[in-house]
Amino acid sequence: MGDYFKYSNVMREELGSEGLSLEDIEGMRDVTDMAYRRTMERYERGELGFMEVIYEDIEQYSLDDKDFKYILVVGMGGSILGIQMVYEGVKGIYANELSDKKVFFLDNSDPELLHSILKVIDLRETLIFVVSKSGNTVETLANFFVLKEEMEKLGCKRDNVVIISSGGVLKEIGEREGYQIFDIPENVVGRFSVLSSVGLVPLSSMDVDIERLVSGARDMDKICRREDVVKNPALMNALIHYLFLNRGKSISVLMPYMERLYRFTLWYRQLWAESLGKDGKGQTPVAALGAKDQHSQLQLYLDGPRDKIITFIKVKRFRGDFTIRYRGHYLDGHNMSQLINLQQLGTERALTARGVPNLSIVLEDLDEYTLGKLIYMYEMTTAFMGEMLGVNAFDQPAVEEGKRITRELLEGRAKGEEVLEEYVIKI
Ligand code: PA5
Repeated sequence: MGDYFKYSNVMREELGSEGLSLEDIEGMRDVTDMAYRRTMERYERGELGFMEVIYEDIEQYSLDDKDFKYILVVGMGGSILGIQMVYEGVKGIYANELSDKKVFFLDNSDPELLHSILKVIDLRETLIFVVSKSGNTVETLANFFVLKEEMEKLGCKRDNVVIISSGGVLKEIGEREGYQIFDIPENVVGRFSVLSSVGLVPLSSMDVDIERLVSGARDMDKICRREDVVKNPALMNALIHYLFLNRGKSISVLMPYMERLYRFTLWYRQLWAESLGKDGKGQTPVAALGAKDQHSQLQLYLDGPRDKIITFIKVKRFRGDFTIRYRGHYLDGHNMSQLINLQQLGTERALTARGVPNLSIVLEDLDEYTLGKLIYMYEMTTAFMGEMLGVNAFDQPAVEEGKRITRELLEGRAKGEEVLEEYVIKI
């Protein structure tokens, strides 16, 4: 059957009275048409760079980096989550143990993280990608400034650092000090940027097949250009989430049944939250992982508040598989891959029987090509959902407030922490 998006478990036939009817979907044609039209108008106006970059020549993203033993990506949010998601999705969670090139990711301003990375890598043998669209993100700059000083002490060369940015202090430093710089197109927003220079330059250095990644996205783009909602998985996905949000499903859980996809859920969490959480609207994304979260979250999904819609991602083929042998036990003779996928099916059926709407994305394999398809489908889903909700999915104005206060604190223009003792209980 190939790869597919299945939505039968949100329909009345499977879900019962909580489900949607075909008339419900047909009755929303004006909403889906509007979301489609507005998205394409934005694209025509040149606002949706993420739809353009997948057609760029990928040759421009390659770098001669063969001498480096370590790769360190420094960035925050949309400037790092996608890179980490693709790297782990393609290479697996223990890639560093198996590869000569060891890859590390540095985002937080937690000094212990930087400290622990510095204990493992040798900066003289490290290629550092500093990624920031604005070039002014405080965590990224702080980490970079510390690394820069350490590198200077060690006499590292200029070609140890590659800057991916479209402005700010970071780009200024890059230009002044002669680092190699890759631009980020102005119309590409952080969390939608993994298939631009932001993701493709570092990923190509990590030996990820970026051509296949982009080709998956291009093929998905063709599918997402279909105007008819019943033929367009991103438009349908957005519509279903929109309809159920209006029916009180304020939480959207993404639950793949494959360890390599866990970072995808974290990438999705940012995409869904930061794009849609505006003007009192939005849907809270939750990252889950099967089968293990069946022993952690599932009780709540089945029997807790009826405020969730779940999306499963199931992959048919695993890179390694094992036959379980234990005579007399019901596991005997089954493969591990069968087990995990039957666990997914069991969960799906239990949720459906309880009236919890759920969707499935089923992939034959997880590789660069299918991951590219998945990424693009979610980017388009988010764009369509933004139009349905009537919010601008491509800005993040509320985040600026906390940044402004932090800066005032750092510059001594605001009072530091004050603890009202009457409301403190010592622990
Ligand atoms: O999606 C977004 O726009 C944000 O998450 C940004 O990527 C994040 O704040 C980092 O910004 P910058 O790339 O400017 O450093």
